[in-house]
Amino acid sequence: MVTSLPDPGGDPQLQALTTLTGWRQFATEMPAVPQLLDGQVWQGLDPGKRVAYDDDRIAHHSRLLVVQTPAVREVVTTGRRLAYLNKTAHYGRCGLIVSGPARTGKTTAMTQLGKTIEVIHRRRHPGSRNDIPVVYITVPPAATPKMIAAEFARFLGLPLTRRANITDIIEAVCGVCADTRTSVICVDEIHNLNIATRAGAEASDTLKYFSERIPATFVFAGISVERAGLLSGARGEQIAGRFTMVRTGPFGQDQQWITLIAALEGSLRLHRHRPGTLPQLGGYLHRRTHGMIGSLLWLIRSAAIQAVTDGTEKITRKDLDAIQVDIASQTARPQPGGTR
Ligand SMILES: Nc1ncnc2c1ncn2[C@@H]1O[C@H](COP(=O)(O)OP(=O)(O)OP(=O)(O)O)[C@@H](O)[C@H]1O
Ligand SMILES: [Mg+2]
Repeated sequence: MVTSLPDPGGDPQLQALTTLTGWRQFATEMPAVPQLLDGQVWQGLDPGKRVAYDDDRIAHHSRLLVVQTPAVREVVTTGRRLAYLNKTAHYGRCGLIVSGPARTGKTTAMTQLGKTIEVIHRRRHPGSRNDIPVVYITVPPAATPKMIAAEFARFLGLPLTRRANITDIIEAVCGVCADTRTSVICVDEIHNLNIATRAGAEASDTLKYFSERIPATFVFAGISVERAGLLSGARGEQIAGRFTMVRTGPFGQDQQWITLIAALEGSLRLHRHRPGTLPQLGGYLHRRTHGMIGSLLWLIRSAAIQAVTDGTEKITRKDLDAIQVDIASQTARPQPGGTR
């Protein structure tokens, strides 16, 4: 009898990544960027074609692109290096923690590392289509050991029988990971582990046990991990001693911020947008978003979709003024620091 598994909740995009099918789709997809039609051709489109053309551009603007920010670069470079080092280690493997405030790009950086590892593996072993080089799970709120084990099982598509105990699940997960040459395991939302509670401390031990049993590089991501208590106490020290930390944070009002905005502007597919407008609004955009990449993406994606739907086909300061950013950006200023 197959029981239903805990729902990871929250973001539907994250949810999709926590199954093998969803992850593989993400790891292999190269989202097509729509071509901007010549002005006359665009004006001459019949209504049906125009709707399809606009829908494509709206879908593109709702994603935009992943910018190679310093955080993405550091997580990918460090993660790849650790994965190589760990290949020959029989015990005491090292891991990576990506830590920072909410919506500073932790999941994006971690999943880009996973995608890179997956692409390299597929290239190196073209005949091993059933391999699972990367596992991606999220820690559910108030996680217990069994919930952690079940998240692994769910990703791998292992059926969970009602009678299965945690040892059975762990054995099955470790077996599949060994057989399918898993080399990187991403564990997101690690702040949901509350090691101040007994169940939370045991869940953290379960993760540690998995990291000892599976010869893979573990990557943890979560909100301000050092403050969540994961790294304190005897158990925490063990983790801290073996993990490299990459901190994410808000951008300063500097060249990296302008480069980020210019990259996003370069991916817009709008007919009347004047290139250079958004980088020139760098100071304004920083005030609006406090340098938070999540808020910036929200603002620019929203304005770009609006520009297609209302036909203005450009983004100006007035258009940006009309869009509200998230509540966090409207109120508290996050602490600077970390890799942006
Ligand atoms: N390098 C990047 N390029 C483009 N967009 C990015 C990048 N990093 C983050 N974003 C965007 O910023 C938003 C927040 O990013 P992400 O979800 O990775 O942050 P997070 O730190 O994991 O957030 P949370 O704390 O809520 O888990 C997303 O919409 C994401 O698409
Ligand atoms: Mg995240």
